[in-house]
This record gives sequence, structure tokens and C-alpha cells, in this order.
Amino acid sequence: MSDMTVPPAVRQLRELALSAACAAALRAAARLGVADALDDDPASVDEIARTVKADAGALRRLLRALASNGIFTEVTGDRFAHTDASRLLREDTPRGLRYTTLWATEPWTWELWPRLDEAVRAGRSVFGDLHDKGFFEYLHEDAPESAAVFDRAMTQASALSAQALAGVLDLRGMAVVADVGGGQGGVLRALLERTPALRGVLFDLPEVIADADPCLRPGGSLGDRVQLVAGDCRREVPVEADLYLLKNVLEWDDVSTVATLRAIASSGRPGARVVIVENLIDGSPELRFTTAMDLLLLLNVGGRKHTRAGLEDLIGQAGLILGRVEPVNSYLHMFTCVVSA
Ligand SMILES: C[S@@+](CC[C@H](N)C(=O)[O-])C[C@H]1O[C@@H](n2cnc3c(N)ncnc32)[C@H](O)[C@@H]1O
Repeated sequence: MSDMTVPPAVRQLRELALSAACAAALRAAARLGVADALDDDPASVDEIARTVKADAGALRRLLRALASNGIFTEVTGDRFAHTDASRLLREDTPRGLRYTTLWATEPWTWELWPRLDEAVRAGRSVFGDLHDKGFFEYLHEDAPESAAVFDRAMTQASALSAQALAGVLDLRGMAVVADVGGGQGGVLRALLERTPALRGVLFDLPEVIADADPCLRPGGSLGDRVQLVAGDCRREVPVEADLYLLKNVLEWDDVSTVATLRAIASSGRPGARVVIVENLIDGSPELRFTTAMDLLLLLNVGGRKHTRAGLEDLIGQAGLILGRVEPVNSYLHMFTCVVSA
């Protein structure tokens, strides 16, 4: 009898070549609200279909495709139940990943992926070829829904790491912390809640600052300890602080990274601390996630996830003095620098 086993390499490559279907299925489930339609008990496909207003036959196919990847599980007779991973797609899951999933699969990503060979050949972003403007301009001017998803995805992602960062960041002797590119302010909020004497500055693009966490705005519970500043950190960071934090911001082109670090170096007094937090290509156990993000950053902003040596080099080019490099958690590293005299 002939050997009917499909060689693992064949299976691997076939599955990978169709892995866009997996990302699309996750997106469809997140947009339909399938995870929210299912509680702790298994439910039939018909019940779920009624709740999410979908065609039952097509929904069954979607659920089977997801279940083959461990997202939901098929129990007896046409009934599906949650797995740990599918629960993360629920809107009400603390530290969930619904918006991260939507962000990673937004319509602009599907325009960009087929052009990866062009981006690799040219070694630059292909976003401008498609949209005639930079990625963040496009996001805020032409794709407000996607911008809103981005802000919520960043907030969800920082909820996962804000407490870890607050736990390791040494704030002794610090009166003012500026979170540059701080998004809606999730990380700053965690730092202020942990350190009652601390004051904070949230710096980001105007559209993002306008949507800052209500508790950081005037009248909010932390509002009297926070200054909200809108601007472009590549041009200037007109803020005086004892510590400048840059978490997952320096992922664009190297020129912008060095410009941002120089802008901070020229605002900060000598000895002020600059803390850069990034997922490193060579320091993360999540190599598939980090390398995939690295490619998406090449496509949309001509950016990158850094290696440790690569980021150290850019810090040096900006004239900052690098001190310790240490882990924040299993997937983030913190580079502590000071502004030179
Ligand atoms: C990946 S998010 C990180 C947000 C936040 N630091 C965190 O870790 O959750 C990058 C942030 O940089 C901001 N940003 C992008 N371009 C900027 C610019 N030119 N000046 C200031 N902020 C900018 C974005 O609006 C966004 O909030």
C-alpha cells in the first residue's frame, strides 16, 4: 500500500500560503460579534446565527475554520463553545484582543500585503504609492474608523503591559513624567495611579490627544495632575520633564526615530531620563508576532521592530547616553538613557 501521509513540509507550506484565510476569519468573527454571542455554555450554530444576524450555514463554516485553529471549539452536534483564545475576542473581556485583531486586519493591510515584494526590493514603505500621503495622515484624514480602531487597539495592548511597566520603572525622585506618543494615556494613567505625587504630560498627535482617556482630561479624576500636549514629536517636544517615556513609538523610519530622540534631547535638561520601551526582534519569545509586525511596519510607515544593537545605534546617533537595557516582561525591553550635558 502506498504511503498516504502528507509530508509535514507540504502541510506546513499549504497552510501558511492560505493563512490570510485565518486572519480574515478572525476579523469576521470580531466584526460579527460571534464571541459576544456565546457565553459560558455551548450554543448551537442556529442560536449564534440568530444573535449575530448571519447565515447559519456560512457561520458554521466560519466557526469550523476558526475551531481548526483553536479559536472556539466544536462540541457535540453542531454546538460550539469558547476556548481561552476565543474569549479574548469578547468586547467585555478585561485585557482582551478584539481591537488588536481588528487593527491587524484593517482594510489597508489587505492593500499592502500583496506589495511586500516591492517594499523588500525597494527597502521602503509602499504606502505613499497607494495613497499619496503618509500612513498617519491617511489614518486621521481618510480612515477615521480605522484611526478609532487603532487607538482602542493601542489602549488594549497597553493594558497588557502598563502594569508591568509601572512595576519596573524606577520613578524615585521624579516629579514629572512625559509619555511621548502616549496614545490615549493608558500607560500614563497606570503610572500616576501608582505614584500619587507624580505629575504627567501626555504628548501625541492632535487627533489622538482630543480622544485622551477622560480621567486624564480637565475635570477627570487625574486631570489636575496631567497636561495634555498635541504636536509632532519628530519636530519638537516642547515639554520639560524628569523622565520622557517612548513606548512602541520608535517603530517608523530611522530618520524619524533619530529626529524624535534629538527633539527630546534638546528639550530635556542634562541628566533627564529617556526610557524607550520596545519589542525586540532578538529579545522576544514571540518571534512570529514580532517579525510579522516588522514586515507590516515596513509596508505602512517604512519602519521596523528593532534588534537590540540596531536601537542602540540610533540612540547613539541622537546623542543620548545609554545606560541599562532590561526586560519589562517576556516581550518588552526597556532602554534607559540620559540627556547629555
Ligand atoms: C504604537 S502607538 C503606541 C502608543 C502608546 N505609547 C502605547 O504603547 O500604548 C504609537 C503612538 O505614536 C503616536 N504618533 C505617531 N506619530 C506621531 C508624531 N509624529 N508625534 C507624536 N505622536 C505620534 C500615535 O498617534 C500613537 O499613539
